[in-house]
Amino acid sequence: MRVFQSPAELKNELRSLDGSIGFVPTMGALHNGHISLIKKAKEQNDIVVVSIFVNPTQFLKGEDLEKYPRRQDADKRVCELAGVDYLFYPDANDIYEKDEVSLCAPNVRGYILEGSSRPGHFSGVLTVVMKLLNIVRPANAYFGKKDAQQLNLITLMAKQMFMDVNIVPVDTMRDAFGLALSSRNDYLSAQEREEALKIPASLKKATSMIMSGICESDRIIEQMRAILSPLEISYVAVVDREFKPLQRVEPGNTIILVEAVSGTTRLLDNIWL
Ligand code: PAF
Repeated sequence: MRVFQSPAELKNELRSLDGSIGFVPTMGALHNGHISLIKKAKEQNDIVVVSIFVNPTQFLKGEDLEKYPRRQDADKRVCELAGVDYLFYPDANDIYEKDEVSLCAPNVRGYILEGSSRPGHFSGVLTVVMKLLNIVRPANAYFGKKDAQQLNLITLMAKQMFMDVNIVPVDTMRDAFGLALSSRNDYLSAQEREEALKIPASLKKATSMIMSGICESDRIIEQMRAILSPLEISYVAVVDREFKPLQRVEPGNTIILVEAVSGTTRLLDNIWL
């Protein structure tokens, strides 16, 4: 595995290669969810590139930019063991200048749900992803379904900006108790982790209601909220794959999303139906 810090050097190297490139952008603190993205990229491409960059522009003032877990050596080892060919490890100065062109998330889909509790977050995500995709120029780029709204907006950006990249969604990985894997799970105490299990439990309840023929969104949301209590709930929503609210679950076109806070940690989860 070769490690690059400089965007220009990585670009030169990648442009000299033959074969398809699969790209997995990450913010590090790699876990099995990231490894499943890398595995998928390896299956579908000749060359796999991973980036690790804790992107400052997607953190709002007062959020966890400083305390976000950084584990350079362990992450390098994980990438090596997972068979990554190139690791891109830039500094903020390698990616951003002082007076910057930046992308704006769309007014509606970028400012509902997570975008409503974190206004501007998705503009930062889209800007950095655009930069990373321009540096790597992959055939395929891999994103987890756990961050469903992020995945939706990146797919929209690739389409609306006429980009030559295929955005590949990858299923959420869970721990043995059902908690969706996330680098932010590191922040949870044992008790907060226990409480956080209400999140997958609420989604399980939604699934069982739907299986028994209850498909009205308000009934599902009400039951999910009851299970999530006393966690602080940012939102529970039933939307279609374009992120428009649904009155009723439409099989094959529905995502049920939850964001709740355990301790001080915001946790996201969802199911695609
Ligand atoms: O999902 C993440 O880890 C980040 O939002 C991403 C896509 C790497 C952009 O910084």
